[in-house]
Amino acid sequence: MQEIIKVRGLTKSYGDNQVLKGIDFEVHKGTMLALLGPNGAGKTTTVKILSTLLSPDQGEVTIAGIDLSRHPEQIRKVIGLTGQSAAVDELLTGSENLIMMGRLYQLSKEQARQRAEELLVDFDLVDAAKRKVKDYSGGMRRRLDLAISLIASPPIIFLDEPTTGLDPRSRQTMWQMIRLLLDSGTTILLTTQYLEEADQLADQIIVIGGGKVIARGTPEQLKAKVGQDRLEIRLKSIEDFELVISILEKYSPTQDQDKLTVGISIKGDGSDLKPILDLLEYARISPAGIEIHRPTLDDVFLLLTNGEEVDE
Ligand SMILES: Nc1ncnc2c1ncn2[C@@H]1O[C@H](COP(=O)(O)OP(=O)(O)OP(=O)(O)O)[C@@H](O)[C@H]1O
Ligand SMILES: [Mg+2]
Repeated sequence: MQEIIKVRGLTKSYGDNQVLKGIDFEVHKGTMLALLGPNGAGKTTTVKILSTLLSPDQGEVTIAGIDLSRHPEQIRKVIGLTGQSAAVDELLTGSENLIMMGRLYQLSKEQARQRAEELLVDFDLVDAAKRKVKDYSGGMRRRLDLAISLIASPPIIFLDEPTTGLDPRSRQTMWQMIRLLLDSGTTILLTTQYLEEADQLADQIIVIGGGKVIARGTPEQLKAKVGQDRLEIRLKSIEDFELVISILEKYSPTQDQDKLTVGISIKGDGSDLKPILDLLEYARISPAGIEIHRPTLDDVFLLLTNGEEVDE
């Protein structure tokens, strides 16, 4: 797959605060990379550097084959940015904001008007189009922000915490829009503190902490790092509970007598599931419930940002 964004050895200090200490990553064309990290990890700094708003101290960045240090002006033509703090003009209407940005990107008046209309429809802002942005809700602003970054139909977009502060429903709507962008072949670099967001949307994740990449992989790979899946079998009676403990003894089950629940670590590919269920069936036990618990990205994040060593 083509690496449309490539970052090598990126460093950046503010005074004597070294925020990025050599970051490497790449994003394949048409996919999403999520950049995760706690507050102050350097996510916004990275996005600002990649979108030419801030110059790095060291490192190489290539975007769509363009060298960032040599041709920042060309990079601006292939990217769209939705920043962490909204860049809309409060006193203009949603429609005016879009058209103004279209003109900045050198669309003709007619093109800018047409593109603005399309985006207002796509982002469910038709009713609000003629209202001043200062009267928009947080969710409407975020949608307008994203719409603005798409005005010139860029093949690559950077989204810096696009759903922070949104209620669950607005977040879902935003996710749908982001998925549509991915479906249409757009390459996305997204930063987030919501692990679920990275889990839902991203093809690859990198976690930054202490100025370095401390983990990378697919959501599944990262979850696999924190340990095994667990099978929990809830029984209907104390007799069943005791019987199950004895027949599953070789799996070293954990037991919770109050909840009549037996827990077993299982392999992620589910290969030990059938033998276990067969044993239950053979003993004629029908459980009250069976659940599989997978580690969440929250577990990964806590583990990593507590400074514990995790192999890459
Ligand atoms: N213009 C600046 N001048 C000085 N220090 C800065 C500047 N911008 C950011 N920093 C510092 O750099 C570090 C990284 O900031 P950055 O905004 O990149 O973090 P972030 O990962 O985006 O955090 P958040 O999750 O809070 O958005 C922080 O310690 C911050 O205080
Ligand atoms: Mg930030």
